Amino acid sequence: MEKLVIKGAPGLRLRGEVRMSGAKNAVLPAIAASLLTGEEVRLSNVPRVKDVETILTLIADLGGSCKNTADGVSLRVPKIRSDEASYELVRAMRASILVLGPLVARFGKAVVALPGGCAIGSRPIDLHIAGLQKLGATISLEHGYIRAEADRLRGAEIVFEKKTVTGTENLLMAAALAKGETILRNCAREPEVADLAVLLNKMGARIDWPDEDTARIRGVKELGGAAHAIIPDRIETGTFLVAGALTGGDIIVRGVVPEHVGSVIDKLRASGAYVEPAGEGALRVVGTSEVRPQDITTSPYPGFPTDMQAQFMVLLTQAAGTSIITETIFDRRYSHVNELVRLGASIEVQGDKAVVKGKTPLSGAEVVATDLRASAALVLAGLVATGETTVTEIEHLDRGYERIEEKLRGLGASIERVKA
Ligand code: EPZ
Repeated sequence: MEKLVIKGAPGLRLRGEVRMSGAKNAVLPAIAASLLTGEEVRLSNVPRVKDVETILTLIADLGGSCKNTADGVSLRVPKIRSDEASYELVRAMRASILVLGPLVARFGKAVVALPGGCAIGSRPIDLHIAGLQKLGATISLEHGYIRAEADRLRGAEIVFEKKTVTGTENLLMAAALAKGETILRNCAREPEVADLAVLLNKMGARIDWPDEDTARIRGVKELGGAAHAIIPDRIETGTFLVAGALTGGDIIVRGVVPEHVGSVIDKLRASGAYVEPAGEGALRVVGTSEVRPQDITTSPYPGFPTDMQAQFMVLLTQAAGTSIITETIFDRRYSHVNELVRLGASIEVQGDKAVVKGKTPLSGAEVVATDLRASAALVLAGLVATGETTVTEIEHLDRGYERIEEKLRGLGASIERVKA
């Protein structure tokens, strides 16, 4: 077990340049897509994070071969020796559900453990299952596993009751090999979904978008290999932009797609920070000492991302006034609040809302990470808390951030990873 020890100060100003890694939530479906072909899928700009290790283990357990390359992975799944994704792996990472669609589409059978709930609320997969049933899969739930079977999936028209990122991704992959045409309506529009469709088309799929949340997939008999660069991580980008604003710093974040973080940039500017392009694929953020309170409501892309809610909350603890955050995506995504209160924040949760009163000076303490983005929020708070903050259970952080302490140290933060 490890922990992060941060020596913070209210006047700490992060300065310098930092480069973002590839997007965790783009590389996970891309790796799952390798199950759709027997040919090589080469992915570059792959972040070295725990969730990637987990899904590569899953692909290897299923019978695929995974080789590390200079900045990514080479995958090849000519056949499978198992069609089961174990509870142990699915429990470790809910996104393991992404093998369900590809396995049943190519091999006619998939047995995937039901993902447990997690620190950010119940995480049903009813929309994944309903979509696969529409494509002709027979689905049974037994002993905590989903068993999906189909001779060959058949195209259908599917309307998602609500926008689901991995649900859309699972159905894009399944429909790619279905017989006939599939129309998916009310698709999630996250950049990671769009990027998966780009990869699938490189593999020979026939996906187009009649409108921005409707996908048309004309099924093909088989898919081939492809090489693909993973898009930058927009949540890591948002996290570092907030770090610059929070510390009154002046940093340049490189290797980004500015339009993928438009809603976060808008809110940072509204709070008083300066955020502007700094050349190709780079953004400059300059913080202000007078942070203005903001009301934030999370919503599906291109709205304000739920994955940035915890991080932005930390900035709002330093705003001169009261902010109201409304979390509309997950039913319990405030586990970071109690820990921020331990650092001195004044936050009250009322149902799906968090009322943040600022400006509150933060003081260092030992805090516990509960989920990936909550962990990032605690690290950010440690930067501006007076004294030493220790963040424990940082395995959550390592699931989705590559070398975060090195990146922050490179900007002037005093942060060390030590044995817990
Ligand atoms: C993806 O999770 C991301 N994970 C999450 O990022 C992100 O928070 C989430 O999308 C929302 O943007 C990956 O891409 C690997 P959803 P996902 O299906 O697909 C409900 C992070 O920190 N729903 O879009 O699991 C669900 O309960 C992680 O990187 C159903 O009701 O989320 C939620 O309320 C955390 N039935 C809403 O839809 C279903 O079948 C959105 O969930 C599926 C979802």
